[in-house]
Amino acid sequence: MSIDIGSDSIRISVEDQNDIWSERSVIAMYRRTDGKESVLATGIDALDMWQRVPSDIDVVFPFNSGGISDFEAGLQLLRHIFVEVQGRLLWISPKIRVAIHHSASTGDKERYCQLLLKSGAKKVSLVNRSFAAAMGAGVPVDEACGYMIVNIGASTTEISVLALDRVAHFSRIHVGGNMMNKAIGSYLEKKYEILISSFEAERLKCEHIQAVYKKDETQIVWVMGKDTQTGLPKRLEIPLWHISRSVGPTIR
Ligand SMILES: Nc1ncnc2c1ncn2[C@@H]1O[C@H](COP(=O)(O)OP(=O)(O)OP(=O)(O)O)[C@@H](O)[C@H]1O
Ligand SMILES: [Mg+2]
Repeated sequence: MSIDIGSDSIRISVEDQNDIWSERSVIAMYRRTDGKESVLATGIDALDMWQRVPSDIDVVFPFNSGGISDFEAGLQLLRHIFVEVQGRLLWISPKIRVAIHHSASTGDKERYCQLLLKSGAKKVSLVNRSFAAAMGAGVPVDEACGYMIVNIGASTTEISVLALDRVAHFSRIHVGGNMMNKAIGSYLEKKYEILISSFEAERLKCEHIQAVYKKDETQIVWVMGKDTQTGLPKRLEIPLWHISRSVGPTIR
């Protein structure tokens, strides 16, 4: 079994199966009166609860910027995911390959291994994420020619140049899809006095963003949110290119 643990999504591929299994990296935990926590929901079901639940329910994103921000919540989430992925084969402890970025420290690597071993893995091995991405895309990384691999995630972007089966260059910046969502939200708040939810920002980004755009006032999109002054629901029509423009500084 191979796994990529992202801050937005966890992806798993199981040998001899063509499909990639994917789940959002979120868990909802109910804090009981005795101080213990029990799992209420994981993945997309937990994400649905985000910002909508009472204070005794924690909706946690355990993985952040390529690291583990909440070990215990991450452990619970992975255990639930492995139960779903393995189904009736649960009694078999899997050997797991985990994708990890090129500049991960020894401490980071140990934490990932610990996490997966505690989640039920029999053996854990580490795979360089840039090579995994290149191979998945069919890039001939053994050639005497540099190939640039750019992996834009939710919280980080990893850029590597691969040649002759080696990493010739690697850099990692804390810019990704989440920052684009925030940029869309702030732009609309400033320009149109509308507060939008993170779900609305995500929708606008995925449905409408263009890295190269024309200032065309005829193409319009609908935006739903709250008026910043009155707090009342607000629905606006705005030119589509404004959405693209709002993420310009993040992309640059
Ligand atoms: N069609 C799309 N257009 C723009 N952005 C998209 C689209 N589809 C997904 N995204 C964005 O991609 C990001 C998720 O990418 P990915 O699943 O690779 O992240 P991740 O691996 O979990 O994060 P990270 O590697 O940063 O920890 C999210 O921010 C999501 O909004
Ligand atoms: Mg990723």
